[in-house]
Amino acid sequence: MIFANNRLIYPNTSFYDAITFASNKSKEKMENKNRIALVTGGSRGLGKDMALRLAEKGIDVILTYNSRADEAEKVVNQIQQGGQKAVALQLNAGEIKSFGTFIETVKGVLKDQFGTDHLDFLINNAGFGHHAPIAQTTEEAFDDLMNVHFKGVYFLTQGILSILNNGGGIVNISSGLARFSMPGASAYAAMKGAIEVFSRYLARELGPKQIRANTVAPGAIATDFNGGTVRDNQQVNQMVSNNTAMGRPGEAEDIGGIVAFLCTDDARWITGQRIEASGGMFV
Ligand SMILES: NC(=O)c1ccc[n+]([C@@H]2O[C@H](COP(=O)([O-])OP(=O)(O)OC[C@H]3O[C@@H](n4cnc5c(N)ncnc54)[C@H](OP(=O)(O)O)[C@@H]3O)[C@@H](O)[C@H]2O)c1
Repeated sequence: MIFANNRLIYPNTSFYDAITFASNKSKEKMENKNRIALVTGGSRGLGKDMALRLAEKGIDVILTYNSRADEAEKVVNQIQQGGQKAVALQLNAGEIKSFGTFIETVKGVLKDQFGTDHLDFLINNAGFGHHAPIAQTTEEAFDDLMNVHFKGVYFLTQGILSILNNGGGIVNISSGLARFSMPGASAYAAMKGAIEVFSRYLARELGPKQIRANTVAPGAIATDFNGGTVRDNQQVNQMVSNNTAMGRPGEAEDIGGIVAFLCTDDARWITGQRIEASGGMFV
C-alpha cells in the first residue's frame, strides 16, 4: 500500500480502493483503544447518519460505499474533524464472491490504520429499493435484492465473525415493510423479513460470546432511497404522513442514533430484538 496526498491507496486490487485514512496518528502502530464499527452503505442516507452518530459516541468507523466514493470521503472527513478515526472502503454488498478479498482488506486496514486485528460492531445497512407488483417482479430483480439484502448480509456477517470481538454487536437494517404490507414491495420486504429471522439466530448462536444481534426497522425515510420517492414525491410523502402517528416521514437523523445506542454498553441487555423506528407508521 502507499500513502499519497493523505490518502491510502492499495494497489493490485480492483475490488476496492481505500479512499482515505483516519487521523494524523494513523501511521503509528499503536494499540487501538476505541471500539470500531463497520457500517455498510455509510456514504449516504441512513448509513451516513449511523456512521456520524457512532463517531459521536467515540466509536471509530470503517464505512463502505458502492459507487459514491466522493460522498464516502465527505463522511470520513466529517468524522475525522470530530476526532474519531474513519476509513472508507468500496464494497458491492451483492457480490458475495468478493467478500473474502474484502475481509482481507478490512484486516489490513485494522492492522495498519487502527493497530488492532478485530472490530466490535457490524452494521448491515447497505441497500437499494425496488418497486414492482408480484406479477411484474423479474427473476433478475429478485436475485439482485436477494444478493444485497439477504444473501450478502448473511455471508458478510459470516465472514466478519472471525474478526468480531467478544462483547461486540451486529445490527441488521430491516424495514417497516416487513411488518406491514404495501403492494409493490413483496420481494424487497421478504428479504427484510429474512434478515429479521437471521438476527434472532445470530443472537442465539453468538450470545455465548456476549455478542448481541438486533434488527432496526425504519419506516419510510426521506433519503435518496428508491429514487428519493419518499422525499420528492408529494403524493407518497403525504400518504406516509397521513399514516404515521408522528405525522411526517422519517429523516436519516431519526435512525442513526438508535443504531449508535445499540453499540453502547447501555444496550448490553438488548439482543434478538426488532426495534421499529417508523414514527408509528401503520400502528
Ligand atoms: N429510506 C427508507 O425509506 C428506508 C426504509 C426502511 C429501510 N431502509 C433501508 O435502509 C438502508 C439504507 O437506505 P437509505 O435510505 O440510506 O438509502 P440510500 O440513501 O439510497 O443509501 C444507500 C446506501 O447503500 C449503498 N449501496 C446501495 N447499493 C449497494 C450495493 N449493491 N452494495 C453496497 N452498497 C450499496 C449506497 O452506496 P453509494 O453511496 O456508493 O451508492 C449508500 O451508501 C437500506 O438497507 C434500506 O433498505 C430504508
